[in-house]
Amino acid sequence: MSVTPIILDCDPGHDDAMAIILAGYSPKIKLLGISTVSGNGAIEKVTENALRICTLAKINVPIAQGSGVSLLGAAEAATDIHGETALDGADLPAPAFALQKMSGVELIGKLVRESTEKVTLVATGPLTNIALFLKLYPELVTNVEQIVFMGGSASRGNRTPYAEFNIWMDPEATDVVLKSGLPLTMCGLDVTHQALVTKEVFGELEAMGTELSKKIIGLMKFFAKTYDEVFEMPDPPLHDPVAVAFLIDPTVVTCKFVNVEVELKGEFTRGATVVDLFDRGGGKRNCTVALNLDAPKFWKMMLDAVRAAGAAS
Ligand code: BDR
Ligand code: CA
Repeated sequence: MSVTPIILDCDPGHDDAMAIILAGYSPKIKLLGISTVSGNGAIEKVTENALRICTLAKINVPIAQGSGVSLLGAAEAATDIHGETALDGADLPAPAFALQKMSGVELIGKLVRESTEKVTLVATGPLTNIALFLKLYPELVTNVEQIVFMGGSASRGNRTPYAEFNIWMDPEATDVVLKSGLPLTMCGLDVTHQALVTKEVFGELEAMGTELSKKIIGLMKFFAKTYDEVFEMPDPPLHDPVAVAFLIDPTVVTCKFVNVEVELKGEFTRGATVVDLFDRGGGKRNCTVALNLDAPKFWKMMLDAVRAAGAAS
């Protein structure tokens, strides 16, 4: 069985937390470390959440705090979706281990440098740390296999009418990634809106009856409430684990290799990903875009990971 070494760059966040659990408990993923980035909440909050989720699920990997602002110095929080802590809905244990004494970008550099195999970077938050890594460590880029990110959309947005949240938070960083020349896979709203936390999923979580599954139910109930309030989606989309699931089994999604650009200047469209599905603009193909999800296959992977984590913790 081939095992993919990854670094997960994230902003936990309800769906990031589930991406951490999927990465931590899939036998096909070797989670080398976690870097955090400001997005769903301030950097201190999302970093604390990463530590708490890893403590809860007994995932013992190096974690480092990354960038608190975008490349242009901006920050905001998605409290309307993720609450004041950025991970509202369950009491999570105090962190049982300490942060690395280095920045998130330094941790990415260290792990990529030390790895004997090429490393896949998985980003489930704004792409700030990834762009900084590409700019600060150009000599290490040859040891990067690919970048898989949750973000963007081939249609409409969720932070603005056309911009998806992660890309909206740092369009300039997205531009660096899109121009990197590395193999890229974008798991945007097109595909993640098919990863719905349905009543059947809640039923499966309830049947597990572990301490972990009970906490996850609390988190998912909060997420379902805010998604219903904000987007009229009572079954919320579990965006971020789709990027990890793609690495576990690429057949979980169907994709198209196309040109993707990010809007940096649009009067109303800053942060929108411009996905040329039918090669109308003639731009160079630079990104594989996931468009359809095999939802039963996705949920089997996700729930198997929660089951394994629940047994271990
Ligand atoms: C993305 O935005 C965040 O709120 C989620 O964690 C996900 O990464 C979805 O647009
Ligand atoms: Ca996220």
